[in-house]
Formats: sequence, structure tokens, C-alpha cells
Amino acid sequence: MRYLIANWKMNLPKEGIDRFTESLAPSTDWSNARVGVAPPFPFIGDVRGRLNERILVGAQNCSDHPSGAYTGEVAPSMAGAAGASFVIVGHSERRTLFAETDERVGSKVAAVFSAGLDPLLCVGEDSTTRENGGTVALLARQLEAVFAVLTDPPEEMMIAYEPVWAIGTGRNATPAMAAEAHEAIRRIVGEATRRKTSPIILYGGSVKPDNAAALAAEEQIEGFLVGGASLEAAGFLRIGEALEAAAPAD
Ligand code: PGA
Repeated sequence: MRYLIANWKMNLPKEGIDRFTESLAPSTDWSNARVGVAPPFPFIGDVRGRLNERILVGAQNCSDHPSGAYTGEVAPSMAGAAGASFVIVGHSERRTLFAETDERVGSKVAAVFSAGLDPLLCVGEDSTTRENGGTVALLARQLEAVFAVLTDPPEEMMIAYEPVWAIGTGRNATPAMAAEAHEAIRRIVGEATRRKTSPIILYGGSVKPDNAAALAAEEQIEGFLVGGASLEAAGFLRIGEALEAAAPAD
């Protein structure tokens, strides 16, 4: 099964989300590709109610605390009660704009699991790190910080490889670059969990209808996390069709 996850960020207004869910509902009965959407918190319940159960609904972020005096924060269990089954954790915008450290990302992943939800952990290098040949070391640092706090690692975990230089820039990683990073992620997770956790690795960063087929043809890419191109249902569905048409991932 492959995954196609929409990260709407703080973009679609309520009317846009309503329109999107109407177009999405009848068109995603694929056998190789499962769709998920991550609306802003206030719309999670409504979106969950409008979409069939095969479509996953998730949150874009959450607190690493289960409850308490944290004004403005949302506990993972609260996102779950609203209808989310997964939570995007460690997106590069959270890391850079909201100063989330590797350790904070690790404790969020643990909190999401504790609440019975699935994290979608984002990792990825900035352009300077790539130019300096430090990509794999950075991925290792980001991943090891997470597995250091997971005392009982899960059997499966969704991870998105999202090179920061590709997010929202129109400059996607080539299929070969993504495959190399995905392979490194698989190795690092295997070593960090003594082979207990099999990651399901999505690629994110300027995925569009016109580059989706080439990326989906790469066996290491088990799906996409899509930002800009997830704001319009027709284009998003074309990306899903590219995943569906590619050979099924194990
Ligand atoms: P993009 O965003 O598809 O607009 O590059 C991806 C993401 O931020 O998850």
C-alpha cells in the first residue's frame, strides 16, 4: 500500500475545504494508494465526518504533553477525539519557524503513540547540509533523537523524507536522490530499533501532477506528502493516480 497525504498547512479556508472534500470523496477508491488529509485543527471533525472511512484524517502538529496549562496547545488525545488518526510531527516549518528541536520532535512522536495515534514523522536536510555532504548524518541525528525516546518501538512507522530545499520551491528531489535518502532512512531506523521497526517512507517536496509518475516509479518511495499541490482536488487526484498506476509497494 502507498500513501498520498495532503498537508494543507494554514491555507485552505473553510469553503475551500468543503469544496475539496466534495470532489475527493467519490474518486479515491484505489487499491494501491490510500489517501489522507491533514486540515488545520478546527476543521478535523468536520472533514472526518464528510469523508469515507478509507480516507485518513490527521492533524498537522500537536503538543508533547497529554494535558495541562499550555495555552493554545492541542494534546494528541484531543486531536484524536476530534477525528484524527495520525499527526504530522517534525515538519521542517515547525522545526525552523517554531524552533522545534530534535528532542521535542522525539517527545511529540512518543506522545502521539501514547495517545493511540500514528505519527507521520518528517525529516530532511537543508540545502547547505546537502551541498556539504552531510545529508545522511543529519537524517541520522533527526531519527536517532526520536528512537532514543521510544522505549518500545512500533512495528511500522510512517516517515516522510522532506528535503527542506524542495518544500514549496518547485525544485523536487530527483527520484534517485529520494531513493538514496529513503534507503539511508531505512538503514538508520533498522539500526536504531534493532530491526524492530519497518518504516513506510513517503517523499515530500514539490510533488506535482507532472513529476509524480517519475517519483512513484521509484520502489523506495512508498507515497507522497504533498503541500502546494494538495490545495486543489483535481491535481491532487492526478498525483494519486500516478501512485495507483505505479507498481504496488509491499
Ligand atoms: P510542497 O510541501 O509540496 O508545497 O513542497 C510539502 C510539505 O511541506 O509537506
